[in-house]
Amino acid sequence: MSTVEQSGKMWSGRFREPLDAVFEQWQRSFPFDVRLLPQEVAASKAHARMIAAAGILTDAELERMVEGLDQVGDITLEFAPIESGMVNPRLLGAELGTTPRTIRRWLNKQPEFNEEHVKHTRITLAKDDPLLLRMKNHFAIQANLNLDGDGASEEFPATTEADVAASMAHAEDIHHFVELQLTKVIGPLALKLHTGRSRNEQIATDMRLFVREAMDVTTKGLRRWALALIELAENAGEAAMPSYTHMQRAEPVLVAHWLLAYVAMIERDIWRLADARKRMNLCPLGSGAVAGATLALDRAIAAHELGFDGPTQNSMDATSDRDFLLEFTQCLATMGVHISRFAEELTLYATAEFGFLDLPEAFSTGSSAMPQKKNPDFTELIRGKSARLVGSATTQAVLMKGLPLAYNKDLQEGQEPVFDAADTVRGILGILPGFTRSLKFNFERMRTAATTGYLNAMAAATYLSNKGVAFRKAHEIVGNAVRLGLQSGRELDAIPLAELQGLSAAFGEDFHAAIALEATLDCHDVAGGTARARVRAALTEARERLSSADAT
Ligand code: ARG
Repeated sequence: MSTVEQSGKMWSGRFREPLDAVFEQWQRSFPFDVRLLPQEVAASKAHARMIAAAGILTDAELERMVEGLDQVGDITLEFAPIESGMVNPRLLGAELGTTPRTIRRWLNKQPEFNEEHVKHTRITLAKDDPLLLRMKNHFAIQANLNLDGDGASEEFPATTEADVAASMAHAEDIHHFVELQLTKVIGPLALKLHTGRSRNEQIATDMRLFVREAMDVTTKGLRRWALALIELAENAGEAAMPSYTHMQRAEPVLVAHWLLAYVAMIERDIWRLADARKRMNLCPLGSGAVAGATLALDRAIAAHELGFDGPTQNSMDATSDRDFLLEFTQCLATMGVHISRFAEELTLYATAEFGFLDLPEAFSTGSSAMPQKKNPDFTELIRGKSARLVGSATTQAVLMKGLPLAYNKDLQEGQEPVFDAADTVRGILGILPGFTRSLKFNFERMRTAATTGYLNAMAAATYLSNKGVAFRKAHEIVGNAVRLGLQSGRELDAIPLAELQGLSAAFGEDFHAAIALEATLDCHDVAGGTARARVRAALTEARERLSSADAT
């Protein structure tokens, strides 16, 4: 028997020496892959069905195993950040039938309670902390709690601190954890679950399941944001604003047209996710460690059970492929870039210099120093968060570059940035639709900006070219008219016809009507242009596309 066999490791047989204690803790992925518990349980159930079909489990054993796995999956994830040897009043609260808040309040009143007890935003108390003992007494629960970690009970109580802490001390990763817990629930039968599989295919499967769900959540959030923009655009009616090129006023556009530009970006983001989702929706289970399972498994069983379109093609690729993480994070990075452009525009437009919009107070903060300020925290933060999203995609690319086939432990490093990107996007999209809906524009100022500064010069040149003047010539004539206006402090529409006719005989009675704001908008009467009728139609079409249930 090897020295480490009793430690309950998944690979102890070959080893004579225990792991260096610090290294052991350091290399564990359980502190972060614990969030893959639902995916690990689902994938394990699918694997159980495959090995049962291959004759490894009887029907009764399969049933027990599936039930056991369900029980393991029911564990509340509240325990996740607890460190080995620590207990968490949140869980104690659940055990004691009181609320974490009551516990917190009680703790706050205790003189010896200090920041030492707060870790990862949670309160943690060492098992031997006298404060804990006093708390137990206070809540009169001593008899009901087993905090020593050795009380594996017949029934799997799942949330007792002891079980969790004990398992956490040893669990290397989520795969190991589930095996340990399953053993507690169904006994040695649990050890049959690993027949014909490897953690290499498990983590590849769990991550695919995680990403697939994150893609769906992201898509829903994007659709909600697009609909909020559409609502805002509809409410803007025929309001106009300047468009910019080189950050210089260019031509007037409808505010709705500007907002629909973001809808177009969002729709591309949604397509990109849908496209990547199709490519990744294949099941690695049955790939084994690298060369394929050592049992004749019907891989279609697991693929079907987990909602995949089928099994992956090649076991070496399946166990080491993380393209789906790269694609997912790249999708989020691109999306983050779009969001940051929106954030930047709003931040600019909310300045006194532009004055196009009044920032919603619910999403802004004041300055501790300058009483007059209202800072655009939300738009600044989401502009900044795009950096993390790009960072996550970069990590995936660098991690995979030059990595030999097949599984390498480096891949474990890819998980946290994916979780972070998924959480970041979930957070942003949880707020962005409501924020967007609450935006209030100063349409008056936008209109003034759109009607000053010769933004109708292009429409004027178009007018002349419609009268038969070659565009190049028309451009020059209008350029002269603009210079005339600049010299005398007048917009084009304030220059009398007679004066204009001094520049070109092609100017006629209908000129001023042709350069009025509405005409300036409507002369862009082309699909994708800002003519009012075009934008109205574009809005209806966008709403239809994004509201339909199967919109991609
Ligand atoms: N925690 C590991 C990871 O995230 C699981 C796979 C471990 N496989 C292995 N051969 N050690 O990559």
